[in-house]
Amino acid sequence: EKKGGPVINTQQLVGDDLKDLKNNIRNLLGSGHPMLDTVSKYYFQADGKHIRPLIILLIAQATSLAPKKVHVKVKDSYEEIDTPISELSNFFIPTLPTQDVNDHRAPSTSPNTVNAIYTARVNEADQTFILPSQRRLGEIVEMIHTASLLHDDVIDMADKRRNLLSANESFGNKMAVLGGDFLLARASIALARLRNHEVTELISTVIANLVEGEFMQLRNGQVENGRSRSGTMTTFEYYMEKTYMKTASLISKSCRSSAVLGGASDEVCDIAYTYGKNIGLAFQLVDDMLDFTVSSDEFGKPAGADLKLGLATAPVLFAWEEYPELGKLIKRNFDQQGDVELAWGLVLKSQGLAQTRMLAQSHCQKAISALSGLPDSQAKTALIQLTEKVLDRKK
Ligand code: FPP
Ligand code: MG
Ligand code: MG
Repeated sequence: EKKGGPVINTQQLVGDDLKDLKNNIRNLLGSGHPMLDTVSKYYFQADGKHIRPLIILLIAQATSLAPKKVHVKVKDSYEEIDTPISELSNFFIPTLPTQDVNDHRAPSTSPNTVNAIYTARVNEADQTFILPSQRRLGEIVEMIHTASLLHDDVIDMADKRRNLLSANESFGNKMAVLGGDFLLARASIALARLRNHEVTELISTVIANLVEGEFMQLRNGQVENGRSRSGTMTTFEYYMEKTYMKTASLISKSCRSSAVLGGASDEVCDIAYTYGKNIGLAFQLVDDMLDFTVSSDEFGKPAGADLKLGLATAPVLFAWEEYPELGKLIKRNFDQQGDVELAWGLVLKSQGLAQTRMLAQSHCQKAISALSGLPDSQAKTALIQLTEKVLDRKK
């Protein structure tokens, strides 16, 4: 037992929903071109952590009994109503056509039919539930995340991912990039088929943010006396903004989308967003810390990669306060002989890693506080426990 009561078994809570995830994604991905089929499905063969879908599903459950704002269209005006769960789940099961994604005609299925795999599952213990649309959202988000990894591995010239040869290493850069594009396109079709404009807008913004984050990182080295060269932000603020764009945007806007699909009130949608944003920031801070502390075999991807890529992450930026000589190395992106080793040594000697951990911890705390606005449920407890584990993760 932990301090917050018994440890919730997330497998028991949402395992059935997650089990279908990989299969459903494969169904969304089929291509007539055998090589494209192989490349776009490649990263799904490894056992991913599926942390994003897991969070989306838990948010779905945890918000399912919270206040709702349901807009029902009545003669061209919107009316706010309080809908009982039984009707709500009917209302919010959108069309999830089973028809081939290569068929570009509008789906012909009637509005409330569902794909056989999808039924609204109710947790008998506390009556929380997950809607089919929320499960589909998890699949869409995992596809977008995987697309970004395909592109990221090309940009980073990574040879390894999830303990497998990277896609670029196996198939070459051209196919890896196109495979990622294909994943994005299929995710977009599935997103359109949720028939929810707010969610379409949120998730499309995520895709833009991923690219923006990656661009900010390309220019990461543009530092001048502790300020980013654009002048408006400190280097640290710039780093945090980049971290939001490349990691936390996806998790925060997915959490909000999950609540939106459940018909949650604005307040509840904000809670979901705040939770996602803070756990996302903590998650990336820990990732940047692990790059210094974990071997590549444990990590499943190249460790010590950031310095070699010229990137100054939180541990380095904190260490810079203690060792001003790091400044010139950061400015030249660690590109001279011996820079990486020198910076590495200073970071390990400094409080940088401990400070990064503390910052991550404060974001975990904010994530947990946000949840206090939701009614108690097993899913809420699971979300709290998941947040507590972010700091302990090794991969
Ligand atoms: C992993 O970061 C990469 C990301 C979180 C986002 C990458 C985004 C793009 C390449 C922009 C294109 C986006 C799409 C949607 C196609 P990392 O390199 O720090 O982590 P790693 O150690 O897992 O490689
Ligand atoms: Mg990378
Ligand atoms: Mg990268």
